[in-house]
Amino acid sequence: MPAGRYDPPAMTTHARATPPHTAIVGLQWGDEGKGKIVDLLTSEHDVIVRYNGGANAGHTVQVGDQRYALHLIPSGILYPDKACVIGNGVVVDPEKVLQEFETLRARGVHIGGNLKISDRAHVVMPYHKEQDAALEEYLSAKTSGDRGNLSIGTTRRGIGPTYADKVRRSTAIRMGDLLDPAYLRSRLEVVCKLRTAELEALGVQTAPLDPAALAERYAGYGERLRPHIQDTVYALHDAMRAGKRLLFEGANASLLDIDHGTFPYVTSSNCSTLGIPAGTGVPGHAIGRVLGIMKAYSTRVGAGPFPTELDNELGHRIRERGREYGTTTGRPRRCGWLDLVAVRYSAMVCGATGIACTLFDVLSGLDEVKLCVRYRLPDGTETDRFLPDAHRLESVTPVYETLPGWSEDLRDAGDRATLPANARRYLERIEQVVGVPIEVVSLGPERTQTLVDGRRAAALAHA
Ligand code: IMP
Repeated sequence: MPAGRYDPPAMTTHARATPPHTAIVGLQWGDEGKGKIVDLLTSEHDVIVRYNGGANAGHTVQVGDQRYALHLIPSGILYPDKACVIGNGVVVDPEKVLQEFETLRARGVHIGGNLKISDRAHVVMPYHKEQDAALEEYLSAKTSGDRGNLSIGTTRRGIGPTYADKVRRSTAIRMGDLLDPAYLRSRLEVVCKLRTAELEALGVQTAPLDPAALAERYAGYGERLRPHIQDTVYALHDAMRAGKRLLFEGANASLLDIDHGTFPYVTSSNCSTLGIPAGTGVPGHAIGRVLGIMKAYSTRVGAGPFPTELDNELGHRIRERGREYGTTTGRPRRCGWLDLVAVRYSAMVCGATGIACTLFDVLSGLDEVKLCVRYRLPDGTETDRFLPDAHRLESVTPVYETLPGWSEDLRDAGDRATLPANARRYLERIEQVVGVPIEVVSLGPERTQTLVDGRRAAALAHA
């Protein structure tokens, strides 16, 4: 070979980008109705992949008259011919997974070789949930005044403490560890001592954690989950090489991303699409399509800044019409006008190629609707840039554009062109401000109450 020339090998060990793999991600603070959209796109894909978060997420999917609420298992499990993967970036609560197994199997859903769980996913242990709750209680009781209450309003599912152990490394337990009882026990001997002391420091009086009992219990879960626990990185690359199409299902949402969200009022994982490479082992360039899910208005659960919040009768009305109560915790969600500064930022960070606008039917019956297009800063200037820092975001005032509302019930609309003119105008204005086309409009919980590329979606085969 002449000097300076490099001939790449004819065969490479990595999968080429077999387009187009798809990512679905929430563009707000969660609960955008991702479950329904994931379910809708599942038929076009072969493997459904979770890459972040844990049982803090809740996906509700309506199939005919059946409603499924899933927290950890991808909703693709409802299709017998799809594979589902819980990637290494997820924190897995084995008790919750086994509970979901039972609920799904009781309703006739097959779970076998179609579900793979990464051996590198970190395990949510009971003490993580205790720590999560204890820290929240401690911060609620001990912090207030000028700096405010420092509690985050977590789901108390142990998410933060589990990811903290992942970063700390020496105290972490991974799914693969559950398959080796002696190793698990030796790790837990140390972890339990530390954990009892840490819980006591937060004012929790607990009996010392018993490593032997805990190891036995969790090795038992490991045994039950053994057929599913494996190296999912190779499994995903094998699938790509075999020409399978992957659908990455983001949990939580971009504005809750640990690096790019409204820190510190965020969750502990990279929920934006930026979490996909690290959380699955699939390089980012393999993803050709990113569908950002956005409610027609905004909601938020837990603490943290929310510039367009409607803490009034209108907010209450949106909450009741949109059934805005948490799938995971049942907490009422805070509701407000659509914040396009926030959505445009999320779409940029996630590389959204299209948007799915959900719960559009909820806005029917309002005289006027508002879109936040800029923020006014404390010094009186305005910006169209998001401020992903809670302290700074708390100081802004939303600048709205007011559009006329519409009174028609949209749920049975046939296509986008026949929507009421004001409803169409609302969608068009969103596209202009965000700079990304709205590919899907959801008008109700049913699969058929959806406009895809402007036309009503047909009932899917198994609906
Ligand atoms: P954690 O994820 O339980 O630690 O909670 C951190 C913050 O993220 C809290 O404000 C939660 O309410 C919020 N959060 C976490 N997951 C979701 C979700 O799936 N939807 C909406 N909010 C969420």
